[in-house]
Formats: sequence, structure tokens, C-alpha cells
Amino acid sequence: MLEVNGRRYAFHGHAIVSADDRIADATGETPASLRHEADWLRFQAALDASVVTILGRLGHEANPNRKGRNRLVLSSAISGVERRADAWWWNPAAAPLADALAVAAPEGGIVAVPGGMRVFDLFLAAGYDEFHLTRAAHVLIPDGTPVFAAVRDGPTADALLAASGLRPDAQVMLDPAAQLSLTVWRREKPATEPA
Ligand SMILES: NC(=O)c1ccc[n+]([C@@H]2O[C@H](COP(=O)([O-])OP(=O)(O)OC[C@H]3O[C@@H](n4cnc5c(N)ncnc54)[C@H](OP(=O)(O)O)[C@@H]3O)[C@@H](O)[C@H]2O)c1
Repeated sequence: MLEVNGRRYAFHGHAIVSADDRIADATGETPASLRHEADWLRFQAALDASVVTILGRLGHEANPNRKGRNRLVLSSAISGVERRADAWWWNPAAAPLADALAVAAPEGGIVAVPGGMRVFDLFLAAGYDEFHLTRAAHVLIPDGTPVFAAVRDGPTADALLAASGLRPDAQVMLDPAAQLSLTVWRREKPATEPA
């Protein structure tokens, strides 16, 4: 949760991963084995409910913004925060997140974070309020891009989310035949904060 100019922002990550916590294959593409209708529909509804979608340049370029959603695209080639015809653009090394949100989504609300890896890493460090993790238990992509860079060093995505202060809801099976399940990880509320 972040407050900017009196407006509150909640950060919700969204990823679909293989059993070994990969979001893309060795070529950097999302394989067909990680594309599922049940997850796609859930994901699209979550994007519709957000005030802005924050994603990396490659994902932005690979997924045309057909619905005209409000996007904030990360790139190191931007000098700070910039409005372009296709989206808001932001370089985190050149401007704080608060500045980017203040112009891209001044009303506050849910911020959807669909990656890729470096974007997931950035918000893992900043703090997710929720992380919606869909896992295809039948799929292994040993040489693929992990959801978080630290997965390459051994910890699972679950362990990293737990270490960041999130706790899992009960797993929901989205597609039993594909062994596709969704776990929503949520930030534990401090004991003093009302539910
Ligand atoms: N399975 C899933 O849930 C999932 C989720 C997301 C993506 N994917 C897939 O993963 C692949 C692409 O993901 P990706 O991780 O390779 O690329 P990406 O995050 O979409 O884009 C990477 C680019 O974003 C910019 N960027 C990211 N973090 C930045 C930072 N902290 N500071 C400045 N710029 C930053 C950089 O652009 P510049 O080069 O311009 O500096 C970087 O080259 C695609 O195949 C996509 O479909 C899958």
C-alpha cells in the first residue's frame, strides 16, 4: 500500500508459472503450456478492475493494448515519467514510483502488476498487497525466465512471497485436467489494523 497526495494504491501482482516457477521459456516467450482460458479470463477481469497496469517494455510491445487500458510501461530509455501516444512510460531509476502514479493514476486504487521478471522483482522489493499466482503443475521449463530473479538461486516463488510478508489463501483449482491452480497471496494486516 502506498499513499500519494492523499490517495491510496494497492499493488496486485499477477503471474502464471510452471511448476518450477518460470513465466517464459528459454527464448523469452510465454509457451502455449502457460496459456489457459480460465486463467486468462480471471486475469483480464483483474486488469479491468485496476486503475493502471504496470508492465515491462517487452510485454507491452508483445501484447497490443486492444482494450485501451491505462498502462505504465517500464524502460531504462525514459528520463523520468513521460506520456506517449500508447501509454505512460517510466524509468524507476530516474523517478520515484509515487511520481509515476501521481500522473498515471491520480485517483488511486488497485495497481495491476503483470511483470515480467524485473517488474515483479521491483514490486517484490516495494511490497505487494496481493500476488495472484497461477501454477501449471504439469509444466516444467528448466531454462526459462523465472517469475523472480532469486528463483534462479534456489528459493521457490512461494518462499519469496512468504518472506515478503504475504500469506496464501486456500488454493483454487481453475482447470483440474491441466492441473492449473490459483493461489492468492495477501499481505497480513498488522494486529492493530481493523479487518
Ligand atoms: N507467465 C507470466 O505470467 C508472464 C508475465 C509477464 C511476462 N511474461 C512473458 O515474459 C516475457 C517478457 O518478459 P521479460 O521479463 O523478458 O520482459 P518485460 O518485463 O516485459 O520487459 C523487459 C523490459 O522492461 C524494461 N524494464 C523492466 N524492468 C525495468 C526496471 N526496473 N527499470 C527500467 N526498465 C525496466 C526494460 O526495458 P528497456 O530495455 O527499454 O530498458 C526491459 O528490457 C514475454 O514472453 C512475456 O509474455 C509472462
